[in-house]
Amino acid sequence: MGKIRKAIIPAAGLGTRFLPATKTVPKEMLTIVDAPIIFYVVEEAIKAGIEDIILIAGRGKHAIEDFFDTSYELEDRLAKDGKLHLLEKLSRIRNMANIISIRQKQALGLGHAILTGLPIVGDDPFAVLLGDEITTETPTSGNVTNLLCRSFEDTNVSSISIMKVDDKDVSKYGIAETTEIRPGFFKVTDLTEKPKPTETKSRWALPGRYVFDNHIMEILKSAKPSLNGEIQLTDSMRVLCRDKGLNAMTFESRRFDAGDKLGYLQANIELALDNPELGDELKSYILGLSARLQGGKR
Ligand code: UTP
Repeated sequence: MGKIRKAIIPAAGLGTRFLPATKTVPKEMLTIVDAPIIFYVVEEAIKAGIEDIILIAGRGKHAIEDFFDTSYELEDRLAKDGKLHLLEKLSRIRNMANIISIRQKQALGLGHAILTGLPIVGDDPFAVLLGDEITTETPTSGNVTNLLCRSFEDTNVSSISIMKVDDKDVSKYGIAETTEIRPGFFKVTDLTEKPKPTETKSRWALPGRYVFDNHIMEILKSAKPSLNGEIQLTDSMRVLCRDKGLNAMTFESRRFDAGDKLGYLQANIELALDNPELGDELKSYILGLSARLQGGKR
């Protein structure tokens, strides 16, 4: 059975929820603490054992590519100034993985973005990590991509992550109908993209982490635009589920939709709290702020 060595990271969406910032800066390049969102996503893939990262980029492609490239002038200056810890940080980013970038010429939807990666993915199974979502590691299961890769390697069946959402959030996500096989592990029976809460009983939403059998590429080749005129990944996953089956897993990691303003702020706060250089000071600031808020002083 195949080991998952390749991952597609779609990062070519228009980022309209984050305008005007995303007029010139891709949302995946917005900063969480001290690194762009895409850095955390690539790091998750590498920690899960991925060797080749296929970045699907659109506007601002160069900013993403430059981030993972050498910056001679900057590195020379850091070396001369003896700032070795910063130099080490930059060289770690440069050496992270093989990063291959492909341009999605038009943002025709997530399904189309994934199909754009076909020339590099070839016939292999692969992971997909949405470039604007961050998930954290847990001591027991590592990260979400790791969980999905190991599940695929054990079962040879495509595996996706699922999370429970409130009624009001159902229409923001792809929703999976499932049958529980054992705690935390499900068979998917059907999928719908952004249904109304009255159109489905399920509250299992799909965050942006998947591992796919290569058959999904065959399905995507003939996929037609649907909701919002986009080629929706969920439509092709429905066919994949019918043709080859689909497993779903819950996870313990924290997950942030950093492409959404509130999710972005939450990610910044929580990851800064985890950061040894900032955590303590930020915590006292938050506690002070919370006391002021409770006293009605804002
Ligand atoms: P989103 O739906 O969150 O991205 O797609 P968006 O369209 O940029 O979001 P809005 O405009 O703020 O609502 C999830 C991921 O898929 C990528 C996005 O870059 C994001 O990382 N994507 C989406 C593509 O690469 N290509 C597309 O055509 C659509």
